[in-house]
Amino acid sequence: MKKTVLVSGGAGFIGSHVTVELTNAGYDVVIADNFSNCDMTNYKGVCQILGKELPLIKMDFCDAAATDKLFTDYKIDAVIHFAAFKAVGESVAEPIKYYKNNLDSFLNVLEAARTHGGCNVLFSSSATVYGETDVLPVTEQSPRQPATSPYGNTKQMCEDILRDTVKAFPQIKGIALRYFNPIGAHPSALIGELPNGVPNNLVPFITQTAIGKRECLSIFGNDYPTPDGTCQRDYIDIVDLAKAHVCAVTRMIDGKMDESYEIFNVGTGRPVSVLELVNAFEKVNGLKLNYKFTPRRPGDVTAIWADPTRANEVLGWKAERTVEETLAAAWAWEKAIAK
Ligand code: UD1
Repeated sequence: MKKTVLVSGGAGFIGSHVTVELTNAGYDVVIADNFSNCDMTNYKGVCQILGKELPLIKMDFCDAAATDKLFTDYKIDAVIHFAAFKAVGESVAEPIKYYKNNLDSFLNVLEAARTHGGCNVLFSSSATVYGETDVLPVTEQSPRQPATSPYGNTKQMCEDILRDTVKAFPQIKGIALRYFNPIGAHPSALIGELPNGVPNNLVPFITQTAIGKRECLSIFGNDYPTPDGTCQRDYIDIVDLAKAHVCAVTRMIDGKMDESYEIFNVGTGRPVSVLELVNAFEKVNGLKLNYKFTPRRPGDVTAIWADPTRANEVLGWKAERTVEETLAAAWAWEKAIAK
C-alpha cells in the first residue's frame, strides 16, 4: 500500500522540491502551508511537473487543533517539518516571534503524532548548529556551538525536542537532516527560491543582480583566512537535497533505523568560496556579474563544509550535481520568474 507523507511548509523552496521527489518515488504527499512566506507559484509548479493536483491544506501548524485534524483526516506515515521562519537577521530583532512560531509548530506536530498512535518525523535542521569550528569538514559528531541567533537556536532546540520525544515515546521515530547551503532550482524551472524583498542568501542575490533587479553584489569580506580570502561553504543542489529526504523517509518507514533518533549531514563535502561561486556562475551562464568587495557581514563563519560520509553510507545518498549545473538551474529559474 502507498504510504502518505505530510509535508509541512510544502509550498516553500525546499518543501516543493521534496514533494516532487517523494511523489516520483511513489509516496502520496499531503502539503500543508500557511503561505506566510510564499505564494502559490511553487505549488502550481509542483502540480505541473507531476501532471496532477496534490492535496493542499492551508493551515498554520501553530494551531494545535488544525494540526490534530490533519492527523485525523489523513493516515500519515511520516511527516517532514519545514514550516518555520528562517531569516537570521529578523530572528535577532524578533526573537519572541521566532521562538513562538518555530517551537509551537513543531511541538504541535509531535503532539499530534503522539496522540495519533505515533509517526516518523523528519526535522529540517541546519549546519548552522555547528557554528564556527576549526575542525573541518564537520561530522555529525562535531560539537554544536552555542547558537548565534534565535533562528539557529530554534534549530538546536527542535533537534533536542525530537531527541527527547523519541526517547519518551517509542511510537515516534525521528531523523534530523542538517542541511549545508541549499541552492539552485528544479531543472524544469517550474519551482525554485522566491525570496521576499532583498535576498539575504548569496545565490538569489547573484541571480537578481545578473537579471538587473539589483545593481551590484557585495561580497562580504575578502580578508578571511581562506585560499582567496572569501568565505567557504558547502553548496548543495536543491534536487540532490530533496532526494536525501526520500532516502531518510524510506529508512524510517521501512523500519531500517539503527536508533530511534538519527542525524545526517546533507552536503557535498566540497568547500566553495564566494569568489569561486561567482566565477562559476559567470562561466557556466556566459555573463559578467557586477560585484564589489565590502566588509565582513557580522555573524558569518569563515568556512564550513560537510563530511557527508554517514549519509553516503547509511542513507545510500550522495550529492550528484556539479555546482555549475546547479548555478545554471538557478539562472534558468530567475529568468523564468522574470517573464
Ligand atoms: C545562512 C544563515 C544560516 C541559514 C542559511 C540558510 C547566517 C549567518 N547564516 O547561511 O543560518 O541556515 O543561510 O540558507 O545568516 N554572501 C555575500 N554576499 C551576499 C550574501 C552572502 O558575500 O549578498 C556570502 C556570505 O558572507 C557567506 C556566503 O555568501 O559567506 C553564503 O551566505 P548565505 O547564502 O547567506 O548563507 P550562510 O550565511 O552560509
